[in-house]
Amino acid sequence: MTTLNQGIIQEAADYIKQQSGAIPEVGLILGSGLGVLADHIENPITIDYSDIPHFPKSTVEGHAGELILGTVGGRQVVLMKGRFHMYEGYGPEITAFPVRVMKELGVSKLLVTNAAGGINTSFRPGDLMLISDHLNLTGTSPLIGANDNNLGPRFPDMSEAYSRRLRSLARDVAGELNITLQEGVYAGLLGPAYETPAEIVMLRTIGADAVGMSTVSEVIVARHTGIEVIGISCISNMASGILDQPLSHSEVMETTELVREKFLGLVLTLIPKL
Ligand code: HPA
Repeated sequence: MTTLNQGIIQEAADYIKQQSGAIPEVGLILGSGLGVLADHIENPITIDYSDIPHFPKSTVEGHAGELILGTVGGRQVVLMKGRFHMYEGYGPEITAFPVRVMKELGVSKLLVTNAAGGINTSFRPGDLMLISDHLNLTGTSPLIGANDNNLGPRFPDMSEAYSRRLRSLARDVAGELNITLQEGVYAGLLGPAYETPAEIVMLRTIGADAVGMSTVSEVIVARHTGIEVIGISCISNMASGILDQPLSHSEVMETTELVREKFLGLVLTLIPKL
């Protein structure tokens, strides 16, 4: 298991710099079914996660994870195609390790996306939701353990985890493109089982609008290290118990496929403005 320290982060970042020569400003982490953005990176340089020193090994079926460096509308970006989830067995600090490396590469803004179940009953599958805030319900934190003050403060502020400025920008872009953008609170759980109907009632009661199994540890680390964050959820299904039907990963993938054009339109216009 990788123990996080400045030297390890540096080695991973040095390798990526050697391979790409890039100095990305914007980091992109793509959720289930939203990887198509990777096909729209201009002048891409692709690096397998398995080649990067200390990078976690991907357990994603079918293809190993890849880091892609390039530009979107002239903006230098680094994109994670495939992310690490705690339900795969990684500790929270490991799921967020790539964010530490992004910071070392020069990233100052992070766009995180995910597929999520809709808890707010005014949402519909296929809606996009700007994340206004999150509930970390994983029961843990990527910042547990001794704090390295060079990486960030012991007790980082989370009062504006998702940047007000970047959210306002996203609303403007959605308005220009005539895309309806919901907004709400994302609850991040451990998974991998989908929630029970009773859990969804509880989550709604405590203020969640959508639920998923990723994002919160990455965002906590981004804020720890001073990166500005914007998050967009694709509401891939209504959460457990809302409709009289079971949940499935294939439904999640089918819906993200349906929103592909809308999602791409929004993020490709947004990224150069971040
Ligand atoms: N619950 C948790 N994670 C999810 C869901 C859900 O309903 N949909 C997509 N990811």
